[in-house]
Amino acid sequence: MNILALLQERFRQALNPLVADPQPYVEMVRTAQDPRFGDFQANCAMPLVKLFDGKSARDIAALIVSHLDVSDMCDPPEIAGPGFINLRLKDDWVLKQVNVLISDERMGVPRVKTPKHVVVDYSAPNVAKPMHVGHLRSSVIGDSLYRILKFCGHRVTGDNHIGDWGTQFGMIIYGYKHFRDEHAYALDPVGELARLYRLVNQLSDYHELTVKIPQLEQGIDEQLKKIHDTERQISQAPPADKSDKTGIAAEKEIQKSLQKLRTELSDQRKELTASEEKRDKVQNDPVLLAIAKKHPDIAVLSREETAKLHAGNDENKKLWEQFLPRCLEALQQVYDRLGIEFDLTLGESFYQPLLGDVVTDLVKSRIARESEGAICAFIEGNDAPFIIRKGDGAFTYATTDLATIRYRVEVLRSDVILYVVDARQSEHFKLLFETARTWGFKQVDFRHVSFGTILGEDRRPYKTRSGDTIGLESLIDESIARARKIVDDNDNSRERPELDDPTRATVADAVGIGGIKYADLKHNRDSDYVFNWEKMLAMTGDTATYIQYANARIGGILRKGNCDRLSLRKSGATIQFTESTERELVMQILRLASAVDDVLIDYRPHLLANYLFETADKFTRFYNDCPVLSDKIEESVRASRLLLCDLTGRVLELGLHLLGIQPCEKM
Ligand code: ARG
Repeated sequence: MNILALLQERFRQALNPLVADPQPYVEMVRTAQDPRFGDFQANCAMPLVKLFDGKSARDIAALIVSHLDVSDMCDPPEIAGPGFINLRLKDDWVLKQVNVLISDERMGVPRVKTPKHVVVDYSAPNVAKPMHVGHLRSSVIGDSLYRILKFCGHRVTGDNHIGDWGTQFGMIIYGYKHFRDEHAYALDPVGELARLYRLVNQLSDYHELTVKIPQLEQGIDEQLKKIHDTERQISQAPPADKSDKTGIAAEKEIQKSLQKLRTELSDQRKELTASEEKRDKVQNDPVLLAIAKKHPDIAVLSREETAKLHAGNDENKKLWEQFLPRCLEALQQVYDRLGIEFDLTLGESFYQPLLGDVVTDLVKSRIARESEGAICAFIEGNDAPFIIRKGDGAFTYATTDLATIRYRVEVLRSDVILYVVDARQSEHFKLLFETARTWGFKQVDFRHVSFGTILGEDRRPYKTRSGDTIGLESLIDESIARARKIVDDNDNSRERPELDDPTRATVADAVGIGGIKYADLKHNRDSDYVFNWEKMLAMTGDTATYIQYANARIGGILRKGNCDRLSLRKSGATIQFTESTERELVMQILRLASAVDDVLIDYRPHLLANYLFETADKFTRFYNDCPVLSDKIEESVRASRLLLCDLTGRVLELGLHLLGIQPCEKM
């Protein structure tokens, strides 16, 4: 049961006769930050002052309380300070709720009353290039939303909308035709395809850079001139009088523009250096340089290979059919390691036969029309046109997404579609959703579940030192290796180590992969976050390791007490409290339902991650305060505390499972 929601409902009933729209005030009932003020606090009396002429906030609080019926669950409400309403749940009511959980597999999380069919579009890498760290967030956030929605009783379809029809295939086809190493391809096809992709990319970039670098140099010269001119202007102008306000403002203005010019210059220089480095990698390598010279038009020719593939060219289609399953196998290996599954993997190629119809239909419905040779959807209020067919006849990312929507609604019959995609695509999704609604898909709830970037310590997108993207496989390998060291050190520091080698390996897997996932999930998805190995895997602090460890410790306590968990639950023993830390832990356990509900309001898994961290923390405090296995405590207290350990462990395991993180029995 979501207790907060229940209380809010009671407030709604109390507020209904008092205000026209109680909703915003109902939302001001929250969990109290400080247990001294009770369990919940309502702050709605203060903002209501403006609606009640002449009444003080305390008067209004009293009025609300007089309408409020919570006597079954709370002690009499208290009005504090300027008009806060403090609520404390009755101990016997709390105990009744928590004792119900002993036999509740769902740990108090109800199933939704009106299940929806939700399509979750997540991961969606462009295949044929190895997966990199940028693919992590969508996969991890999407997977946890998938699990949570399903657990709450929705019908969920996880769809991996892979990019399997894009320009990267033209590059690989070109590479395969000209540069393939038969032997390497036979041994490791995906490795060889990745090499070909990188090679073609590098050569195309090289030719582009030989044109771009002189332009950059010229840009820098011009910038220097501008800076020089501005400096001269400053030095030649007579200093403004202190009383001359416009003069002073003008001086400031010109200093500011000088500063801006200098920052731009520094960016230009950085870009030039990076470009030169890239170019020199080819320039200084006689073999690469010779290849580059032999393929001056590689970029154009690769694009032509893509166009030929799209036009149905036999040879290219065959190559694509040969490459794709290999690429999918490689992807699958990563998903297997991460423990991420999909119900469907309908890539962009799946929708290709449907695209012509989409365009015809949109033109017929007068949503799209020709503009400068292309066909674009024009949506009222949007300046940017949404291009659905380019001048050369090619369909776009947008066309595919529109066809995908039609399929997901008309064939899959979905009510909600979540797109777990990088925030940088928000403009695309805004236009997509508006076009789809105008097209007739009004009843569908479209959501761009966007997220920020993973940054390195330098606060720039996380890259290797040489500026390459970080491969996901090697990231996972490294995380598991680091986790192994932590597990080894921890176990070796014990008087008598407890874990054998295979157990250590399993734990390192769970900690390594759990650590990567949790570091991502604990942040509000909108924010960028800095990737930091030490912080991510630490045994203490806000990490998966800490939560996994709390759970393993609970298992250890119960084992040490020779307690069979199933029998304990069926023994008829109940939870009671003697210490405040016990009550706090119980209250925390009872908050799981509300944490899960909160995630689904705006699809933010960090609210569950944060909840689990707090739960592990409250458990630690309880355990420091309350002996569980001591023979100095009464039998009923011991049983109660063992039950509390068991419940906490179950909450942690369920919560970790909903985030896609493996618990460990021992650590
Ligand atoms: N493949 C795309 C990319 O890597 C993401 C696709 C997201 N899903 C969608 N329906 N557009 O940018």
